[in-house]
Amino acid sequence: MNISKTLYDALKKSFEENEFDSNDITLTFSNRPEADYQCNSVFAIAKKMHLNPEEVANKIIEKLEQDIAEVSFARPGFINFKLKNEVLSAYLNEALADERMCLNTLEKPIKVVMDYGGANVAKELHIGHLRSPLIGESLARLYRILGNEVITDTHLGDWGLQMGLTIAQLQDDGYVDGYFEEGKPNKEITLDTLNEAYPKASKRKNVDDAFRVKAETYTKYIQDHKEPYWSIYEKIRNISIDRIKINYGKLNCFFDYWYGESTSAPYVEKVVKMFVDKGLTREHEGALVVDVAREGENIPIEKKNPDDPQLYKNPMPPVYLKKSNGADVYDTTDIATIYQRNIDFYPDKIMYIVDKRQGSHFERCFRAVKTVGISPETQELQFVGFGTLNGTDGKPFKTRSGDTIKLEDIIGLITDSAKTKLKENGIENADKLALDIGVSAMKFGDLSNDPLKDYVFDIDKFASFEGKTGPYIGYTGARINSLIKKAGAKISDIEKNGEINVADENQREIAIAFLKLQESYMTSYKNTSLAPLCNSVYDFASSFAKFYNDTRILTEKDEAKKNSYLAISYFVLKAIKQASSVLAFEIPEKM
Ligand code: ARG
Repeated sequence: MNISKTLYDALKKSFEENEFDSNDITLTFSNRPEADYQCNSVFAIAKKMHLNPEEVANKIIEKLEQDIAEVSFARPGFINFKLKNEVLSAYLNEALADERMCLNTLEKPIKVVMDYGGANVAKELHIGHLRSPLIGESLARLYRILGNEVITDTHLGDWGLQMGLTIAQLQDDGYVDGYFEEGKPNKEITLDTLNEAYPKASKRKNVDDAFRVKAETYTKYIQDHKEPYWSIYEKIRNISIDRIKINYGKLNCFFDYWYGESTSAPYVEKVVKMFVDKGLTREHEGALVVDVAREGENIPIEKKNPDDPQLYKNPMPPVYLKKSNGADVYDTTDIATIYQRNIDFYPDKIMYIVDKRQGSHFERCFRAVKTVGISPETQELQFVGFGTLNGTDGKPFKTRSGDTIKLEDIIGLITDSAKTKLKENGIENADKLALDIGVSAMKFGDLSNDPLKDYVFDIDKFASFEGKTGPYIGYTGARINSLIKKAGAKISDIEKNGEINVADENQREIAIAFLKLQESYMTSYKNTSLAPLCNSVYDFASSFAKFYNDTRILTEKDEAKKNSYLAISYFVLKAIKQASSVLAFEIPEKM
Protein backbone atom coordinates (compact mmCIF):
# COMPACT_ATOMS: atom_id res chain seq x y z
CA MET A 1 0.00 0.00 0.00
CA ASN A 2 1.25 3.45 -0.85
CA ILE A 3 -0.71 5.88 1.27
CA SER A 4 0.27 9.22 -0.24
CA LYS A 5 -0.09 7.82 -3.75
CA THR A 6 -3.59 6.54 -2.98
CA LEU A 7 -4.62 9.99 -1.78
CA TYR A 8 -2.90 11.71 -4.65
CA ASP A 9 -4.53 9.46 -7.25
CA ALA A 10 -7.94 10.06 -5.70
CA LEU A 11 -7.36 13.81 -5.84
CA LYS A 12 -6.25 13.56 -9.43
CA LYS A 13 -9.36 11.69 -10.44
CA SER A 14 -11.58 14.17 -8.66
CA PHE A 15 -9.76 17.13 -10.22
CA GLU A 16 -10.21 15.64 -13.66
CA GLU A 17 -13.89 14.98 -13.16
CA ASN A 18 -14.35 18.53 -11.93
CA GLU A 19 -12.27 19.82 -14.82
CA PHE A 20 -9.78 21.44 -12.45
CA ASP A 21 -6.17 21.69 -13.53
CA SER A 22 -4.42 18.64 -12.01
CA ASN A 23 -1.09 20.50 -12.15
CA ASP A 24 -2.44 22.44 -9.18
CA ILE A 25 -2.64 19.38 -6.92
CA THR A 26 -0.62 19.68 -3.75
CA LEU A 27 -0.59 17.07 -1.04
CA THR A 28 1.61 17.56 2.00
CA PHE A 29 1.88 16.35 5.54
CA SER A 30 -0.14 18.56 7.83
CA ASN A 31 1.04 20.33 10.97
CA ARG A 32 -2.48 20.55 12.34
CA PRO A 33 -3.53 18.07 15.00
CA GLU A 34 -6.80 17.31 13.21
CA ALA A 35 -5.10 16.25 9.97
CA ASP A 36 -2.33 13.94 8.76
CA TYR A 37 -2.22 15.21 5.20
CA GLN A 38 -3.65 18.33 3.65
CA CYS A 39 -4.35 19.55 0.17
CA ASN A 40 -3.64 23.25 -0.37
CA SER A 41 -4.84 23.57 -3.94
CA VAL A 42 -8.21 25.14 -3.24
CA PHE A 43 -7.19 28.81 -3.41
CA ALA A 44 -5.30 28.48 -6.65
CA ILE A 45 -8.28 26.86 -8.33
CA ALA A 46 -10.82 29.23 -6.81
CA LYS A 47 -8.83 32.15 -8.14
CA LYS A 48 -8.39 30.66 -11.59
CA MET A 49 -12.02 29.64 -11.98
CA HIS A 50 -13.53 32.61 -10.14
CA LEU A 51 -15.24 30.37 -7.62
CA ASN A 52 -15.59 30.54 -3.91
CA PRO A 53 -13.01 28.38 -2.07
CA GLU A 54 -15.55 26.48 -0.04
CA GLU A 55 -17.43 25.59 -3.19
CA VAL A 56 -14.23 24.33 -4.83
CA ALA A 57 -13.33 22.26 -1.79
CA ASN A 58 -16.77 20.70 -1.66
CA LYS A 59 -16.63 19.81 -5.32
CA ILE A 60 -13.25 18.14 -4.82
CA ILE A 61 -14.41 16.28 -1.74
CA GLU A 62 -17.64 15.14 -3.38
CA LYS A 63 -15.81 13.36 -6.17
CA LEU A 64 -13.04 11.92 -3.99
CA GLU A 65 -13.02 8.17 -4.21
CA GLN A 66 -10.92 6.64 -1.47
CA ASP A 67 -11.61 4.91 1.80
CA ILE A 68 -8.36 5.27 3.69
CA ALA A 69 -8.93 8.67 5.31
CA GLU A 70 -11.66 10.86 6.78
CA VAL A 71 -11.85 13.98 4.66
CA SER A 72 -12.97 17.39 5.80
CA PHE A 73 -12.95 20.99 4.72
CA ALA A 74 -11.09 23.46 6.92
CA ARG A 75 -11.61 27.16 6.58
CA PRO A 76 -10.48 29.19 4.77
CA GLY A 77 -9.47 26.73 2.06
CA PHE A 78 -7.90 23.44 3.03
CA ILE A 79 -8.87 19.85 2.58
CA ASN A 80 -7.81 17.73 5.52
CA PHE A 81 -7.16 14.02 5.50
CA LYS A 82 -7.13 12.01 8.68
CA LEU A 83 -5.98 8.46 8.05
CA LYS A 84 -8.11 5.72 9.58
CA ASN A 85 -6.48 3.77 12.38
CA GLU A 86 -7.11 0.45 10.66
CA VAL A 87 -5.35 1.77 7.58
CA LEU A 88 -2.33 2.81 9.64
CA SER A 89 -2.32 -0.59 11.35
CA ALA A 90 -2.45 -2.42 8.03
CA TYR A 91 0.33 -0.26 6.64
CA LEU A 92 2.59 -0.78 9.64
CA ASN A 93 1.99 -4.52 9.57
CA GLU A 94 2.84 -4.63 5.91
CA ALA A 95 6.06 -2.70 6.55
CA LEU A 96 6.88 -4.89 9.55
CA ALA A 97 6.79 -8.00 7.37
CA ASP A 98 8.64 -6.38 4.49
CA GLU A 99 12.42 -6.45 4.30
CA ARG A 100 12.53 -2.91 2.88
CA MET A 101 9.77 -1.64 5.15
CA CYS A 102 7.81 -0.56 2.06
CA LEU A 103 10.49 1.94 1.09
CA ASN A 104 9.89 2.92 -2.53
CA THR A 105 12.62 2.60 -5.10
CA LEU A 106 13.24 4.97 -7.99
CA GLU A 107 11.36 4.44 -11.19
CA LYS A 108 14.48 5.05 -13.20
CA PRO A 109 17.56 3.99 -11.28
CA ILE A 110 20.95 5.02 -12.60
CA LYS A 111 24.55 3.92 -12.50
CA VAL A 112 26.74 6.26 -10.46
CA VAL A 113 30.40 6.49 -9.63
CA MET A 114 31.00 8.21 -6.30
CA ASP A 115 34.36 9.74 -5.63
CA TYR A 116 34.92 10.44 -1.94
CA GLY A 117 37.47 9.95 0.81
CA GLY A 118 40.31 11.34 -1.24
CA ALA A 119 43.03 10.70 1.34
CA ASN A 120 46.54 11.63 0.30
CA VAL A 121 49.31 9.10 0.39
CA ALA A 122 52.24 10.08 2.64
CA LYS A 123 50.18 12.79 4.29
CA GLU A 124 48.55 12.26 7.64
CA LEU A 125 44.75 12.04 7.54
CA HIS A 126 43.54 15.13 9.31
CA ILE A 127 40.29 16.82 10.17
CA GLY A 128 39.90 18.11 6.61
CA HIS A 129 39.43 14.47 5.61
CA LEU A 130 36.50 13.81 7.89
CA ARG A 131 33.53 15.16 6.01
CA SER A 132 34.14 13.53 2.64
CA PRO A 133 34.00 9.93 3.90
CA LEU A 134 31.05 10.70 6.17
CA ILE A 135 28.93 12.40 3.54
CA GLY A 136 30.16 10.23 0.68
CA GLU A 137 29.51 6.91 2.38
CA SER A 138 25.97 7.90 3.33
CA LEU A 139 25.15 9.28 -0.10
CA ALA A 140 26.41 6.03 -1.60
CA ARG A 141 24.19 4.03 0.75
CA LEU A 142 21.22 6.30 0.10
CA TYR A 143 21.65 5.96 -3.65
CA ARG A 144 21.88 2.18 -3.28
CA ILE A 145 18.85 1.73 -1.04
CA LEU A 146 16.75 3.61 -3.61
CA GLY A 147 17.77 1.16 -6.30
CA ASN A 148 20.70 2.80 -8.08
CA GLU A 149 23.86 0.98 -9.01
CA VAL A 150 26.69 2.64 -7.10
CA ILE A 151 30.41 2.22 -7.61
CA THR A 152 32.59 3.85 -4.96
CA ASP A 153 36.19 4.87 -5.49
CA THR A 154 38.29 6.65 -2.92
CA HIS A 155 40.57 8.35 -5.45
CA LEU A 156 43.71 8.52 -3.36
CA GLY A 157 45.96 11.50 -3.82
CA ASP A 158 49.00 9.50 -4.87
CA TRP A 159 50.46 11.27 -7.88
CA GLY A 160 51.28 14.76 -6.75
CA LEU A 161 54.18 16.79 -5.47
CA GLN A 162 53.80 15.40 -1.94
CA MET A 163 55.29 12.14 -3.22
CA GLY A 164 58.43 13.82 -4.56
CA LEU A 165 58.70 15.99 -1.47
CA THR A 166 58.50 13.02 0.86
CA ILE A 167 61.09 11.01 -1.04
CA ALA A 168 63.50 13.95 -1.22
CA GLN A 169 63.17 14.40 2.54
CA LEU A 170 63.59 10.69 3.28
CA GLN A 171 66.72 10.76 1.16
CA ASP A 172 68.17 13.72 3.06
CA ASP A 173 67.39 12.01 6.35
CA GLY A 174 69.20 8.85 5.26
CA TYR A 175 66.21 6.53 5.11
CA VAL A 176 66.64 5.34 1.56
CA ASP A 177 70.42 5.21 1.04
CA GLY A 178 70.26 1.54 0.07
CA TYR A 179 67.97 2.35 -2.84
CA PHE A 180 70.57 4.66 -4.31
CA GLU A 181 73.82 2.87 -3.45
CA GLU A 182 74.22 -0.85 -3.36
CA GLY A 183 75.44 -2.19 -0.06
CA LYS A 184 74.22 0.77 1.99
CA PRO A 185 71.49 0.05 4.56
CA ASN A 186 67.98 1.53 4.51
CA LYS A 187 66.36 2.71 7.70
CA GLU A 188 62.91 1.32 8.37
CA ILE A 189 60.17 3.61 7.10
CA THR A 190 57.05 3.61 9.25
CA LEU A 191 53.95 5.71 9.26
CA ASP A 192 55.58 7.93 11.87
CA THR A 193 58.54 8.48 9.57
CA LEU A 194 56.18 9.64 6.84
CA ASN A 195 54.23 11.82 9.25
CA GLU A 196 57.45 13.62 10.06
CA ALA A 197 58.96 13.72 6.59
CA TYR A 198 56.11 15.30 4.67
CA PRO A 199 55.39 18.34 6.88
CA LYS A 200 59.11 18.99 7.14
CA ALA A 201 59.50 18.85 3.37
CA SER A 202 56.42 20.91 2.79
CA LYS A 203 57.79 23.76 4.91
CA ARG A 204 61.22 23.44 3.35
CA LYS A 205 60.00 23.79 -0.21
CA ASN A 206 58.89 27.36 0.52
CA VAL A 207 62.33 28.49 1.61
CA ASP A 208 64.70 26.16 -0.21
CA ASP A 209 64.44 26.48 -4.00
CA ALA A 210 66.93 23.72 -4.79
CA PHE A 211 64.97 21.34 -2.59
CA ARG A 212 61.68 22.26 -4.26
CA VAL A 213 63.12 21.68 -7.73
CA LYS A 214 64.52 18.34 -6.61
CA ALA A 215 61.11 17.32 -5.27
CA GLU A 216 59.44 18.36 -8.51
CA THR A 217 61.97 16.34 -10.48
CA TYR A 218 61.38 13.30 -8.28
CA THR A 219 57.64 13.65 -8.77
CA LYS A 220 58.20 13.54 -12.52
CA TYR A 221 60.51 10.50 -12.09
CA ILE A 222 57.79 8.67 -10.20
CA GLN A 223 55.29 9.49 -12.89
CA ASP A 224 57.79 8.03 -15.41
CA HIS A 225 58.23 4.89 -13.25
CA LYS A 226 61.94 5.62 -12.94
CA GLU A 227 63.93 3.54 -10.42
CA PRO A 228 64.65 3.68 -7.54
CA TYR A 229 62.04 6.43 -7.11
CA TRP A 230 59.27 4.10 -8.21
CA SER A 231 60.15 1.42 -5.65
CA ILE A 232 60.36 3.93 -2.83
CA TYR A 233 57.06 5.39 -3.98
CA GLU A 234 55.35 2.00 -3.91
CA LYS A 235 56.65 1.36 -0.42
CA ILE A 236 55.34 4.69 0.85
CA ARG A 237 52.03 4.16 -0.88
CA ASN A 238 51.49 0.77 0.75
CA ILE A 239 52.40 1.98 4.24
CA SER A 240 49.94 4.84 3.91
CA ILE A 241 47.10 2.83 2.43
CA ASP A 242 47.19 0.26 5.23
CA ARG A 243 46.63 3.01 7.75
CA ILE A 244 44.03 4.84 5.67
CA LYS A 245 42.03 1.61 5.38
CA ILE A 246 42.02 1.17 9.15
CA ASN A 247 40.78 4.70 9.75
CA TYR A 248 38.12 4.62 7.06
CA GLY A 249 37.06 1.23 8.43
CA LYS A 250 36.48 2.81 11.84
CA LEU A 251 34.14 5.24 10.10
CA ASN A 252 32.32 2.33 8.40
CA CYS A 253 33.58 3.43 5.00
CA PHE A 254 34.30 0.62 2.61
CA PHE A 255 35.20 1.37 -0.97
CA ASP A 256 34.69 -0.79 -4.04
CA TYR A 257 37.88 0.58 -5.50
CA TRP A 258 41.04 1.88 -3.89
CA TYR A 259 42.09 3.60 -7.05
CA GLY A 260 44.11 6.75 -7.00
CA GLU A 261 45.24 9.57 -9.21
CA SER A 262 47.94 7.17 -10.38
CA THR A 263 45.28 4.81 -11.82
CA SER A 264 44.63 7.36 -14.53
CA ALA A 265 48.31 7.51 -15.59
CA PRO A 266 48.04 5.03 -18.49
CA TYR A 267 45.38 7.25 -20.07
CA VAL A 268 47.07 10.61 -19.69
CA GLU A 269 48.95 10.71 -23.00
CA LYS A 270 45.90 9.67 -24.97
CA VAL A 271 43.75 12.26 -23.25
CA VAL A 272 46.27 15.06 -23.74
CA LYS A 273 46.47 14.14 -27.41
CA MET A 274 42.70 14.45 -27.74
CA PHE A 275 42.90 18.06 -26.57
CA VAL A 276 45.90 18.81 -28.79
CA ASP A 277 44.32 17.19 -31.86
CA LYS A 278 41.18 19.23 -31.44
CA GLY A 279 43.25 22.42 -31.26
CA LEU A 280 42.05 23.16 -27.73
CA THR A 281 45.47 23.63 -26.10
CA ARG A 282 47.94 26.48 -25.86
CA GLU A 283 51.27 26.98 -24.20
CA HIS A 284 51.44 29.13 -21.12
CA GLU A 285 54.80 29.77 -19.45
CA GLY A 286 56.00 26.40 -20.67
CA ALA A 287 52.91 24.56 -19.46
CA LEU A 288 50.19 23.05 -21.64
CA VAL A 289 46.80 24.52 -20.84
CA VAL A 290 43.19 24.49 -22.07
CA ASP A 291 41.06 27.60 -21.79
CA VAL A 292 37.66 27.02 -20.30
CA ALA A 293 36.63 30.54 -19.25
CA ARG A 294 33.42 31.78 -20.81
CA GLU A 295 33.15 35.17 -22.33
CA GLY A 296 32.51 37.96 -19.88
CA GLU A 297 32.69 35.52 -17.02
CA ASN A 298 34.33 36.48 -13.78
CA ILE A 299 34.48 34.64 -10.52
CA PRO A 300 34.08 37.12 -7.69
CA ILE A 301 36.79 36.91 -5.08
CA GLU A 302 35.74 37.31 -1.50
CA LYS A 303 36.56 40.80 -0.28
CA LYS A 304 39.08 40.93 2.54
CA ASN A 305 37.67 44.23 3.71
CA PRO A 306 33.91 44.64 3.31
CA ASP A 307 34.26 48.43 3.04
CA ASP A 308 36.62 48.20 0.13
CA PRO A 309 34.68 49.51 -2.89
CA GLN A 310 36.84 47.61 -5.35
CA LEU A 311 35.10 44.63 -6.88
CA TYR A 312 37.54 41.77 -6.91
CA LYS A 313 37.19 39.64 -9.95
CA ASN A 314 39.11 36.76 -11.28
CA PRO A 315 38.78 35.13 -14.68
CA MET A 316 38.30 31.36 -14.63
CA PRO A 317 41.86 30.01 -14.87
CA PRO A 318 42.70 27.52 -17.60
CA VAL A 319 42.96 23.78 -17.07
CA TYR A 320 46.56 22.57 -16.76
CA LEU A 321 47.35 19.40 -18.68
CA LYS A 322 51.13 19.44 -18.24
CA LYS A 323 53.45 21.45 -16.05
CA SER A 324 56.47 23.08 -17.63
CA ASN A 325 58.61 20.08 -16.55
CA GLY A 326 56.13 17.74 -18.22
CA ALA A 327 54.61 16.45 -14.97
CA ASP A 328 50.90 15.66 -14.60
CA VAL A 329 48.98 17.86 -12.24
CA TYR A 330 45.68 17.62 -10.35
CA ASP A 331 43.68 18.75 -13.40
CA THR A 332 45.35 16.15 -15.62
CA THR A 333 44.67 13.23 -13.32
CA ASP A 334 41.05 14.20 -12.73
CA ILE A 335 40.39 14.54 -16.46
CA ALA A 336 42.13 11.26 -17.26
CA THR A 337 40.18 9.62 -14.43
CA ILE A 338 36.89 10.58 -16.07
CA TYR A 339 38.19 8.94 -19.23
CA GLN A 340 39.18 5.81 -17.27
CA ARG A 341 35.81 5.65 -15.49
CA ASN A 342 34.00 5.88 -18.77
CA ILE A 343 36.00 2.95 -20.11
CA ASP A 344 35.62 0.85 -16.97
CA PHE A 345 32.08 1.71 -15.87
CA TYR A 346 30.35 4.07 -18.29
CA PRO A 347 28.19 5.59 -15.53
CA ASP A 348 25.19 7.89 -15.98
CA LYS A 349 26.66 10.15 -13.37
CA ILE A 350 29.88 10.83 -11.49
CA MET A 351 29.66 12.52 -8.10
CA TYR A 352 32.53 14.17 -6.27
CA ILE A 353 32.20 14.73 -2.55
CA VAL A 354 34.99 17.20 -1.91
CA ASP A 355 35.69 20.40 0.05
CA LYS A 356 33.70 23.25 -1.52
CA ARG A 357 36.91 25.21 -2.03
CA GLN A 358 37.71 22.81 -4.85
CA GLY A 359 34.59 23.82 -6.74
CA SER A 360 36.45 25.81 -9.35
CA HIS A 361 38.88 22.96 -10.06
CA PHE A 362 35.97 20.63 -10.78
CA GLU A 363 34.03 23.17 -12.78
CA ARG A 364 37.07 23.66 -15.01
CA CYS A 365 37.66 19.94 -15.44
CA PHE A 366 33.96 19.34 -16.19
CA ARG A 367 33.98 22.01 -18.89
CA ALA A 368 37.13 20.57 -20.43
CA VAL A 369 35.85 16.97 -20.61
CA LYS A 370 32.53 18.09 -22.09
CA THR A 371 34.26 20.22 -24.73
CA VAL A 372 36.66 17.50 -25.82
CA GLY A 373 33.97 14.81 -25.71
CA ILE A 374 35.44 12.59 -22.99
CA SER A 375 32.20 12.86 -21.06
CA PRO A 376 29.07 12.41 -23.19
CA GLU A 377 26.53 15.19 -23.08
CA THR A 378 24.03 13.00 -21.25
CA GLN A 379 26.43 12.17 -18.43
CA GLU A 380 25.94 14.21 -15.30
CA LEU A 381 29.04 15.38 -13.45
CA GLN A 382 28.06 16.58 -10.01
CA PHE A 383 30.27 18.36 -7.55
CA VAL A 384 28.97 17.98 -4.00
CA GLY A 385 30.98 20.56 -2.07
CA PHE A 386 31.04 20.70 1.69
CA GLY A 387 31.91 23.39 4.19
CA THR A 388 34.46 23.61 6.96
CA LEU A 389 34.31 22.03 10.35
CA ASN A 390 34.76 24.68 13.02
CA GLY A 391 35.60 24.54 16.69
CA THR A 392 33.27 25.96 19.34
CA ASP A 393 35.16 29.26 18.92
CA GLY A 394 33.80 29.45 15.36
CA LYS A 395 37.25 29.05 13.80
CA PRO A 396 38.47 25.97 11.89
CA PHE A 397 38.85 23.11 14.36
CA LYS A 398 42.39 22.94 15.75
CA THR A 399 44.19 21.34 18.67
CA ARG A 400 44.85 23.51 21.72
CA SER A 401 48.36 24.20 20.46
CA GLY A 402 46.90 25.41 17.17
CA ASP A 403 47.93 22.44 15.03
CA THR A 404 45.54 20.79 12.63
CA ILE A 405 44.11 17.79 14.33
CA LYS A 406 44.62 14.25 13.07
CA LEU A 407 41.60 12.22 12.03
CA GLU A 408 42.63 9.45 14.39
CA ASP A 409 42.74 11.89 17.27
CA ILE A 410 39.34 13.27 16.53
CA ILE A 411 37.88 9.77 16.46
CA GLY A 412 39.68 9.23 19.78
CA LEU A 413 38.26 12.40 21.34
CA ILE A 414 34.68 11.58 20.53
CA THR A 415 35.11 7.95 21.54
CA ASP A 416 36.46 9.09 24.91
CA SER A 417 33.48 11.33 25.37
CA ALA A 418 31.18 8.36 24.68
CA LYS A 419 33.20 6.28 27.14
CA THR A 420 32.64 8.83 29.90
CA LYS A 421 28.91 8.86 29.28
CA LEU A 422 28.77 5.05 29.25
CA LYS A 423 30.61 4.99 32.56
CA GLU A 424 27.94 7.26 34.02
CA ASN A 425 25.42 4.63 32.90
CA GLY A 426 27.43 1.92 34.63
CA ILE A 427 28.94 0.40 31.48
CA GLU A 428 32.71 -0.03 31.52
CA ASN A 429 35.34 -1.72 29.38
CA ALA A 430 33.28 -1.33 26.25
CA ASP A 431 35.74 -0.02 23.67
CA LYS A 432 33.87 -1.19 20.61
CA LEU A 433 30.59 0.17 21.95
CA ALA A 434 32.22 3.53 22.73
CA LEU A 435 33.65 3.67 19.21
CA ASP A 436 30.23 2.87 17.71
CA ILE A 437 28.58 5.58 19.77
CA GLY A 438 31.36 8.04 19.01
CA VAL A 439 31.05 7.37 15.30
CA SER A 440 27.28 7.79 15.46
CA ALA A 441 27.81 11.12 17.25
CA MET A 442 30.20 12.35 14.58
CA LYS A 443 28.10 11.16 11.69
CA PHE A 444 24.81 12.50 12.92
CA GLY A 445 26.41 15.80 13.96
CA ASP A 446 27.75 16.22 10.47
CA LEU A 447 25.00 14.76 8.31
CA SER A 448 22.18 16.62 10.02
CA ASN A 449 23.61 19.81 8.48
CA ASP A 450 23.36 20.97 4.93
CA PRO A 451 26.70 19.76 3.46
CA LEU A 452 27.55 23.16 2.00
CA LYS A 453 27.41 24.91 5.35
CA ASP A 454 30.28 25.18 7.80
CA TYR A 455 29.33 23.78 11.18
CA VAL A 456 30.62 23.70 14.71
CA PHE A 457 32.09 20.39 15.77
CA ASP A 458 30.83 20.34 19.32
CA ILE A 459 31.93 17.05 20.83
CA ASP A 460 29.91 17.34 24.04
CA LYS A 461 26.73 18.22 22.22
CA PHE A 462 27.16 15.56 19.53
CA ALA A 463 27.97 12.80 22.02
CA SER A 464 25.05 13.56 24.31
CA PHE A 465 22.56 10.71 24.75
CA GLU A 466 19.76 13.26 24.71
CA GLY A 467 18.57 15.67 22.05
CA LYS A 468 19.04 15.53 18.33
CA THR A 469 22.13 13.34 18.25
CA GLY A 470 23.39 10.05 16.90
CA PRO A 471 23.70 8.53 20.38
CA TYR A 472 20.04 9.40 21.06
CA ILE A 473 19.03 7.38 18.00
CA GLY A 474 21.24 4.54 19.20
CA TYR A 475 19.84 4.86 22.71
CA THR A 476 16.29 4.53 21.40
CA GLY A 477 17.29 1.33 19.62
CA ALA A 478 19.14 -0.03 22.65
CA ARG A 479 16.11 0.68 24.83
CA ILE A 480 13.89 -1.32 22.50
CA ASN A 481 16.38 -4.18 22.40
CA SER A 482 16.32 -4.40 26.16
CA LEU A 483 12.53 -4.07 26.28
CA ILE A 484 12.13 -7.04 23.96
CA LYS A 485 14.63 -9.01 25.99
CA LYS A 486 12.84 -8.23 29.23
CA ALA A 487 9.53 -9.30 27.72
CA GLY A 488 11.11 -12.61 26.79
CA ALA A 489 9.97 -12.09 23.21
CA LYS A 490 11.82 -13.27 20.14
CA ILE A 491 12.43 -10.94 17.24
CA SER A 492 11.87 -13.69 14.69
CA ASP A 493 8.44 -14.35 16.23
CA ILE A 494 7.49 -10.70 16.18
CA GLU A 495 8.57 -10.43 12.58
CA LYS A 496 6.48 -13.44 11.60
CA ASN A 497 3.41 -13.13 13.81
CA GLY A 498 3.55 -9.62 15.23
CA GLU A 499 0.30 -7.72 14.86
CA ILE A 500 0.32 -3.98 15.35
CA ASN A 501 -2.94 -2.38 16.26
CA VAL A 502 -2.71 1.41 16.10
CA ALA A 503 -5.14 2.29 18.83
CA ASP A 504 -4.17 5.53 20.52
CA GLU A 505 -2.75 8.96 19.75
CA ASN A 506 0.83 8.01 20.63
CA GLN A 507 0.79 5.06 18.28
CA ARG A 508 -0.79 7.19 15.57
CA GLU A 509 2.11 9.61 15.98
CA ILE A 510 4.61 6.82 15.53
CA ALA A 511 2.79 5.75 12.37
CA ILE A 512 2.72 9.24 10.89
CA ALA A 513 6.35 9.87 11.84
CA PHE A 514 7.15 6.64 10.04
CA LEU A 515 5.37 7.82 6.87
CA LYS A 516 7.43 11.00 7.03
CA LEU A 517 10.60 9.04 7.66
CA GLN A 518 10.07 6.86 4.62
CA GLU A 519 9.44 9.93 2.51
CA SER A 520 12.58 11.65 3.77
CA TYR A 521 14.81 9.20 1.91
CA MET A 522 13.57 10.63 -1.36
CA THR A 523 13.84 14.21 -0.09
CA SER A 524 17.43 13.54 0.94
CA TYR A 525 18.07 12.06 -2.46
CA LYS A 526 16.63 15.03 -4.29
CA ASN A 527 18.51 17.51 -2.08
CA THR A 528 21.79 15.57 -2.05
CA SER A 529 21.77 16.04 1.70
CA LEU A 530 21.21 13.58 4.52
CA ALA A 531 19.71 16.31 6.70
CA PRO A 532 16.06 15.43 5.93
CA LEU A 533 16.67 11.79 6.84
CA CYS A 534 18.47 12.78 10.07
CA ASN A 535 15.66 15.11 11.09
CA SER A 536 12.98 12.57 10.34
CA VAL A 537 14.65 9.69 12.13
CA TYR A 538 15.04 11.96 15.15
CA ASP A 539 11.34 12.90 15.10
CA PHE A 540 10.50 9.24 14.69
CA ALA A 541 12.66 8.22 17.65
CA SER A 542 11.05 11.00 19.72
CA SER A 543 7.59 9.73 18.86
CA PHE A 544 8.63 6.38 20.30
CA ALA A 545 9.95 8.01 23.48
CA LYS A 546 6.54 9.53 24.08
CA PHE A 547 4.76 6.23 23.55
CA TYR A 548 7.29 4.42 25.76
CA ASN A 549 6.85 6.88 28.61
CA ASP A 550 3.07 6.87 28.49
CA THR A 551 2.49 3.15 28.02
CA ARG A 552 2.87 0.30 30.46
CA ILE A 553 4.17 -2.28 28.11
CA LEU A 554 5.59 -5.07 30.23
CA THR A 555 2.81 -5.07 32.81
CA GLU A 556 -0.05 -4.96 30.31
CA LYS A 557 -2.49 -7.79 31.16
CA ASP A 558 -4.28 -7.96 27.83
CA GLU A 559 -2.11 -10.30 25.72
CA ALA A 560 -3.19 -8.89 22.36
CA LYS A 561 -2.46 -5.35 23.52
CA LYS A 562 0.89 -6.28 24.96
CA ASN A 563 1.86 -8.08 21.77
CA SER A 564 0.87 -5.08 19.72
CA TYR A 565 2.99 -2.83 21.94
CA LEU A 566 5.96 -5.10 21.52
CA ALA A 567 5.37 -5.34 17.80
CA ILE A 568 5.25 -1.59 17.35
CA SER A 569 8.38 -1.22 19.49
CA TYR A 570 10.23 -3.71 17.36
CA PHE A 571 8.85 -1.95 14.30
CA VAL A 572 10.48 1.28 15.49
CA LEU A 573 13.78 -0.52 16.02
CA LYS A 574 13.64 -1.95 12.53
CA ALA A 575 12.94 1.43 10.94
CA ILE A 576 15.70 3.10 12.95
CA LYS A 577 18.10 0.39 11.85
CA GLN A 578 17.16 0.94 8.25
CA ALA A 579 17.88 4.66 8.57
CA SER A 580 21.11 4.12 10.47
CA SER A 581 22.27 1.68 7.81
CA VAL A 582 22.16 4.63 5.42
CA LEU A 583 23.72 7.04 7.89
CA ALA A 584 26.38 4.34 8.34
CA PHE A 585 26.40 3.88 12.09
CA GLU A 586 25.49 1.00 14.37
CA ILE A 587 22.53 0.69 16.71
CA PRO A 588 23.90 -0.88 19.91
CA GLU A 589 22.34 -3.84 21.71
CA LYS A 590 22.56 -1.89 24.93
CA MET A 591 24.04 1.36 26.16
N1 ARG B 1 43.09 14.22 -2.54
C1 ARG B 1 42.28 15.38 -2.65
C2 ARG B 1 42.51 16.31 -1.46
O1 ARG B 1 42.95 15.88 -0.41
C3 ARG B 1 40.82 15.07 -2.76
C4 ARG B 1 40.45 14.21 -3.94
C5 ARG B 1 39.05 14.48 -4.42
N2 ARG B 1 38.67 13.73 -5.60
C6 ARG B 1 39.09 14.05 -6.81
N3 ARG B 1 38.68 13.30 -7.82
N4 ARG B 1 39.86 15.05 -7.06
O2 ARG B 1 42.24 17.47 -1.58
